Amino acid sequence: MGATCRLWTWACISFMWLVCFLLADGEHFALGGNLRRPRFPHHAYRGSWTAADESLAGSESPVTYSVEYYTQVIDHFSFRREGGFQQRYLIEKKHWKGAAELGPIFMYCGNEGDAEWFAKNSGFLWEIAPQFGALILVPEHRYYGKSMPYGTTEASYKDADTLSALTSEQALADFATLVTDLKRNLSAEASPVVLFGGSYGGMLAAWMRLKYPHIAIGAVAASAPILQFEDIVPSDTFYKIVSADFKLESTSCFNTIRESWDVIEKIASKNGGLQDLSKQFHMCRDLNASWELRDWLESAYSYVAMVDYPIPTSFMTPLPAYPIREICRAVDGLPNDFDILSRIFAGVSIYYNYTGQVDCFLTSDPGNDDIGVTGWNWQACTEMVMPMSSNSNNSMFAPYDWNLEGFMDSCAKTYGVRSRPSWITTTYGGKNIKEVLKNFGSNMLFSNGLLDPWSGGGVLENISSSIVALVAPEGAHHLDLRAATKIDPDWLIEQRAAEVAHIAKWIAEYHNENTMPHDVADIHAFK
Ligand SMILES: *[C@@H]1O[C@H](CO)[C@@H](O)[C@H](O)[C@H]1NC(C)=O
Ligand SMILES: *[C@@H]1O[C@H](CO)[C@@H](O)[C@H](O)[C@H]1NC(C)=O
Ligand SMILES: *[C@@H]1O[C@H](CO)[C@@H](O)[C@H](O)[C@H]1NC(C)=O
Ligand SMILES: *[C@@H]1O[C@H](CO)[C@@H](O)[C@H](O)[C@H]1NC(C)=O
Ligand SMILES: *[C@@H]1O[C@H](CO)[C@@H](O)[C@H](O)[C@H]1NC(C)=O
Repeated sequence: MGATCRLWTWACISFMWLVCFLLADGEHFALGGNLRRPRFPHHAYRGSWTAADESLAGSESPVTYSVEYYTQVIDHFSFRREGGFQQRYLIEKKHWKGAAELGPIFMYCGNEGDAEWFAKNSGFLWEIAPQFGALILVPEHRYYGKSMPYGTTEASYKDADTLSALTSEQALADFATLVTDLKRNLSAEASPVVLFGGSYGGMLAAWMRLKYPHIAIGAVAASAPILQFEDIVPSDTFYKIVSADFKLESTSCFNTIRESWDVIEKIASKNGGLQDLSKQFHMCRDLNASWELRDWLESAYSYVAMVDYPIPTSFMTPLPAYPIREICRAVDGLPNDFDILSRIFAGVSIYYNYTGQVDCFLTSDPGNDDIGVTGWNWQACTEMVMPMSSNSNNSMFAPYDWNLEGFMDSCAKTYGVRSRPSWITTTYGGKNIKEVLKNFGSNMLFSNGLLDPWSGGGVLENISSSIVALVAPEGAHHLDLRAATKIDPDWLIEQRAAEVAHIAKWIAEYHNENTMPHDVADIHAFK
């Protein structure tokens, strides 16, 4: 395990998702360059930030809660003799109208990271809770934050054996047992549960509604790419959308980025070229291979497309409003005699150094969200196999094909496990989703912003009168879940209002079915 541990330690210092994995197999990927992990948001910024821009845009964060722990089962699907573990959850009862009035429970399905971080970026729940008299519950996803099945992070992440309970099915079962127990404790068995989630958390919300319809009456799944599996959507969709976002802002910016990859390779292949690149890009240490730089740049472009919000935010890292516009301004804005890489550096500095407080990049400071990255890498290598490719016809990224065999071999080498690329569609579905869900499912809301590269794997069409897609052409990655700000555009205000209306309808229907005597009479009459 020594090598792997060092590997993860190194991963700690990285801003990126892929690097630790690439390092495990550096040569292979330096040559093949085929491995692209699905990039989901993670907390990238290590420094302090005054949030000056953010507070200009909004007011005080509405997100308040107390922290509790629940003794959880490690493996819900076997009856091995083993201990339990402490699952952290966040709870806010101050708006709850109580069990007697069937006050609803809004449960945010914890993502691949610290629950507090996701809660703080999901102010929408707190803002709408008072009008519904709702209790807010945020169970943390196992293996993230403080919810470690084997006590410590090190023990939980030790090897494939200890990691084997890191699956979405186990996480859903955690949510199900926790909320059921909480309702019992509150004598609130009859209170309706509404699920929420963004990104992977949104996928969990949607899947939980399908798997546990007796536990939750509806699900708001924001930016949930539940179709990004196997061949349901084309594998080039993610990078195609990132590229289109840049092209929309500026064709010359798009072209500069597109041309930069060859320039980088050319310099890197020269004697001392990597050192030159390291200097030019203000790296804290020398780059070991050109893919390190390529990946660092790709990460910036991909993440900034996810958070291309019309308001300043500090979700992953502090950023101005319309960050792609700002990057392209920096890329295009340099005088004519500046070369391509100077432009690239100016652009990417908006993403990695907006505060101007970063001394150098790819630091060796241990960060605090590395477990999020490591855990997600495990998930991506086991269940969450999301095909990724880049097509020269529609992408500003260097072209590459999706290579499932290569991907699976690398996962086997790194973790000693065999990926199961068909498992998600087998256990949750996704193929022919319209036909399948139309007659069987209900009360699901899929919201997507089309600037978000994950929208390519999202549900973008209405499936039935109660399985609804809300599509915002100018939206990005689950912007709707964030707290309102004073400068929110109208479409965002309207989108949130539509979501509230759907939730209200689900709850009203639940009340009608549960409290109106004539319904009972109908059922009896039916016999
Ligand atoms: C419910 O109450 C029991 C007994 O106090 C406690 O052990 C358990 O953790 C509670 N459940 C939740 C979800 O907090
Ligand atoms: C870079 O390569 C050198 C020499 O091969 C190695 O000692 C070092 O650990 C590598 N650094 C990283 C961060 O991979
Ligand atoms: C970050 O920005 C500041 C202010 O522009 C600059 O002085 C510093 O060199 C930048 N850091 C890096 C790593 O480029
Ligand atoms: C790019 O487009 C051309 C013309 O439509 C097509 O022939 C070619 O196969 C496409 N290339 C890729 C990699 O899809
Ligand atoms: C789906 O139906 C809702 C009305 O329930 C509508 O507001 C929305 O625009 C429709 N979505 C799409 C993608 O057509």
